[in-house]
Amino acid sequence: MAIVNLQNVTYKYPLTHTPVLSNINLEVKEGEFVAVIGPNGAGKSTLCYTLAGFVPHFFKGELEGKVEVAGVDLKSTPLNEWVRNVGLAFQNPFNQISGAKYTVFEEIAFGLENQGVPRDEMNRRVDQALTMTGIRDLADRSPYSLSGGQQQRVALTSILVMQPKILVLDEPTSQMDPIGTREVFGVIRQMAERGMTVIMAEHKVEWIAEFADRVVALKDGKILLQGVPADVLTSHLLAENGFGTSRYTSAAREALKFNLWPKHLHLPTTLQEAVDGFNLTSAPSPKERGE
Ligand SMILES: Nc1ncnc2c1ncn2[C@@H]1O[C@H](COP(=O)(O)OP(=O)(O)O)[C@@H](O)[C@H]1O
Ligand SMILES: [Mg+2]
Repeated sequence: MAIVNLQNVTYKYPLTHTPVLSNINLEVKEGEFVAVIGPNGAGKSTLCYTLAGFVPHFFKGELEGKVEVAGVDLKSTPLNEWVRNVGLAFQNPFNQISGAKYTVFEEIAFGLENQGVPRDEMNRRVDQALTMTGIRDLADRSPYSLSGGQQQRVALTSILVMQPKILVLDEPTSQMDPIGTREVFGVIRQMAERGMTVIMAEHKVEWIAEFADRVVALKDGKILLQGVPADVLTSHLLAENGFGTSRYTSAAREALKFNLWPKHLHLPTTLQEAVDGFNLTSAPSPKERGE
């Protein structure tokens, strides 16, 4: 049984005529890590808002089709109930900061506090979450004094601490360097291993290839294709439709034209696959060795 179930979902923002999501069908299993890719304006954030209940409950507009998460139907469930199952980290982490708290620790504790979680348990859970995302050293800082990447970690931590069944992340590493990005992908992978379902809008295909279970490619509000990263990320459809491609895939695709990538191999999506493939071709042939 899918924990996330979208059927024929079409959505228009208020006072607009063109749907931003068109006939989306998407089923996600519990503990699955799904990455959503797509050019700017494809509808990734809107899809995140829909999963998180902000569409239609906050944004209003016209939502058709069925959105069901954890067995609950979106249209008949108020937002305050919906958010118990789904946590969203916004594309801009600044929007996530409550403005009501002086330190990162208090900021992360805010949601638990609102739920009336006892202080001991609250402190323990906040501490655990801070350790997990690697920001314990920021606990006493003001959320406003942080860099964008640090704020993104705080946003992620404040969602994780709530232990939602479904974690929705809208470009959660956009302001991080490669090391930070890799770490955060690692944390998210771990959450999925523990049974949390993750849906993440993201551009960084190299990391998606390494960590995600499935990729959904969105274009003009429609699903262009979906499947395992190795298939979707090497598809010609992506290159033809303005999607970013992994540098490893692009390099091998070029190399193939000069017979420098083994024909029998799948195009690579990760560094390791690229290294393995290029190693096979770089050895000189018997003829080149003069044999
Ligand atoms: N509040 C809004 N009202 C009307 N149109 C919107 C609103 N927010 C986003 N859009 C439009 O919806 C489309 C998809 O946007 P978005 O979901 O942000 O895409 P992405 O995250 O893939 O860049 C864009 O054409 C954007 O202009
Ligand atoms: Mg977006």
